[in-house]
Amino acid sequence: MSPAARPAVVLGVGGGIAAYKACEVLRGLTESGHAVRVVPTEAALRFVGAATFEALSGNPVQTGVFADVPAVPHVRIGQAADLVLVVPATADLLAKAAHGLADDLLTNTLLTARCPVLMVPAMHTEMWEHPATQDNVATLRRRGVVVTEPASGRLTGVDTGKGRLADPVEIVDLARLLLARADALPRDLAGRRVVISAGGTREPLDPVRYLGNRSSGKQGWALARTAVARGATVTLVAANTAALPDPAGAEVVRVSTAEELRQAMHKSAANADVIVMAAAVADFRPAHRAEHKIKKTGRDPDPLALTRNPDILVELVAARTPGQVIVGFAAETGDTSADVLEHARVKHRAKGCDLLVVNAVGEGKAFETEDNAGWLLSTDGTERPIALGSKAQLSSEVWDAVVGLLNGELQ
Ligand code: CTP
Repeated sequence: MSPAARPAVVLGVGGGIAAYKACEVLRGLTESGHAVRVVPTEAALRFVGAATFEALSGNPVQTGVFADVPAVPHVRIGQAADLVLVVPATADLLAKAAHGLADDLLTNTLLTARCPVLMVPAMHTEMWEHPATQDNVATLRRRGVVVTEPASGRLTGVDTGKGRLADPVEIVDLARLLLARADALPRDLAGRRVVISAGGTREPLDPVRYLGNRSSGKQGWALARTAVARGATVTLVAANTAALPDPAGAEVVRVSTAEELRQAMHKSAANADVIVMAAAVADFRPAHRAEHKIKKTGRDPDPLALTRNPDILVELVAARTPGQVIVGFAAETGDTSADVLEHARVKHRAKGCDLLVVNAVGEGKAFETEDNAGWLLSTDGTERPIALGSKAQLSSEVWDAVVGLLNGELQ
């Protein structure tokens, strides 16, 4: 696609310290070929100079409605946008947007835009949790604006807590997701709580060694991003995915062993509408975890003696609450007894989940790759093939099927 044909993004920048991270988001968008018009607030320019935004975007920057009046920028900029992205969305900006105030170019743009709007908040925990802010966020979400949950961690000064801006790389990914389906992105998970497991568990043998698997967590990440974009409240239970930054808007619980993952899943599953077990869970763990490094000259006759881990998916199905939709994943290779689909059907029945996403694995397929293909098995016997595509595309198909079940449209 030529740069001109790429969707146009308006990047609104609010007046918070996280404004400097908007530069990285801007860079990510322009490097993907998007035309970006930066519209900062006056306060944002106290943190980052207009020259920086002009140089990085290649477009002029103004904050008020009285410059270049014949071009009517307070109307045209919003009308021409394919996505309005606000980074950071301060408490003040969220309040203005919720109440339809229009006292500068950015707030005018928010009123004239008819494209998707993504607001990525950053502020101190108290400001985020204040009922005024929470009401404003609820109002905006009800109108279809995607307002992500802030990340937790170090805030300005000595404070730590919820309120950090999401990782800029993840903000760009979420923006791309919204742009990819700009006309048709459904908001059909709004108000739903989903919990997703991702990555692969590690079962320690001793302080330095573990039994693990090759799952990268990318499929779970794609599921989380897509669910956030469709309006869900997302908890991502991530096993050993340290290299991946938290998806924008998702609450991330980091775990390592199958037992830790099990406890985190049960805790979040209790009030979830949807559970997706995308993690590769070790079926076995070492029967004994050595306190000290196991020596090859040691006397332990069998340091690799194993014991079975509980099947978390089966437990979650047994503990399911009314109306809850549960999705399992199955990574299969065929063997001499059965092919991939035959193994998957047996697994689907044994697990009792509503949907089973089946991937053929081995020979470079599925693990650590960007693409995925497979089948989606439903309890009514439907076996829908999923064409080879990105993990985001596969995620969309999974959420389409989940929404069908939540709405009672499918069996
Ligand atoms: N799973 C789980 N707990 C386990 C093992 C697997 O919750 N102890 C879940 C996985 O997260 C996945 C599904 O069960 O959603 C299928 O995982 P898979 O490894 O394909 O199946 P297993 O039950 O381990 O069967 P096998 O390894 O014998 O094929």
